[in-house]
Amino acid sequence: MPTQALLKQLYDTPETDVIEQIRSLKAELGDQVLILGHHYQREEVFAFADISGDSLKLAQQAAKTDAPYIIFCGVHFMAETADILTNDDQTVLLPDLAAGCSMADMADDEQVMRCWNELSEVINPDENVTPVTYINSAASLKSFCGEHGGIVCTSGNAGRILEWAWGNREKILFFPDQHLGENTAVAMGIPDADMIIWDPAQKLGGNTPEAIEKAKLILWKGFCSVHQLFKAEHADTMRRNHDGIQILAHPECSREVCETADFVGSTEKIIQHVSGSEQGQAFAIATELNLVNRLRIQYPDNPIWFLSPMICMCSTMFRTDPQHLCAALSSIRDNHISHQIEVPRQQKRWAKLSLERMLNLG
Ligand code: 13P
Ligand code: SF4
Repeated sequence: MPTQALLKQLYDTPETDVIEQIRSLKAELGDQVLILGHHYQREEVFAFADISGDSLKLAQQAAKTDAPYIIFCGVHFMAETADILTNDDQTVLLPDLAAGCSMADMADDEQVMRCWNELSEVINPDENVTPVTYINSAASLKSFCGEHGGIVCTSGNAGRILEWAWGNREKILFFPDQHLGENTAVAMGIPDADMIIWDPAQKLGGNTPEAIEKAKLILWKGFCSVHQLFKAEHADTMRRNHDGIQILAHPECSREVCETADFVGSTEKIIQHVSGSEQGQAFAIATELNLVNRLRIQYPDNPIWFLSPMICMCSTMFRTDPQHLCAALSSIRDNHISHQIEVPRQQKRWAKLSLERMLNLG
């Protein structure tokens, strides 16, 4: 049955029956399918993940698996990454093709090429600049980085990757998340005077030629619409109201939030931090709501608060619901694949190189 018709039918079915169908399809397909689930997935979907993790762990798992089908319960760039790292005879599906990442969309090919060309008017980027892209980016940007001696990083390894990049060339051009780049550099002791921001809407990114010549780190002006909602004042309020509370933040939060936090790390590292803490330790956490709610349930002996008084949810992660997961599994069972993610061959080669450079650093 075509996917749209199947989805319509599934939305007319009680959700408990859809969950039952997922269970039986999973059992029927067995080792044929590996379901990868990001920590931000809603509970009903997350429960079916064979492996859950942050972007780094999920990329490592994708590179390792020999399952013929991988269903990626996450967002588009994650499924693209899995397609790049798997063999040609493996198929990657994204249950809802509209599950994108607004941050990844903030650096498009045209803007990136314009930036490189404008940098060439001032310096020789091919000799002096290592392009580094956060994994939250399009395959074409990963390919650009691979082709220009650059590399991919995640929120779990950004420090090590920046060290590698500076080991090769004197400057780094960091895409697309200003905050991850800035927070990582600050933690490494890089002074403000060595960093500039590149605004793709302005000529030379809004910088003077002298500033570009002097900069060690050029930060693309991108951000996560979810993590930008956390503010340093929220941390102040939590500290006033809860004695001894620890603030945990994802490095996509602003510098002000990360500077006030007790711990900054990827989703996986935030989970490890909570799981390794003493009973009774209270936390206020600045990352996506589904993960924070899950931690609350898993660690009932630790009072856990969401740092912001507002709801900060990743609406695109939320698009993957049980109906879409069920439709993806059905399409495999019926040999009528839909919602496949296939990175064009010409992008794959260089994108794979930039990802492998990262994975080889351990
Ligand atoms: P992690 O790699 O830390 O899970 O982050 C992914 C992400 O998109 C955070 O917004
Ligand atoms: Fe992208 Fe932000 Fe959603 Fe992460 S939380 S997938 S960075 S929009």
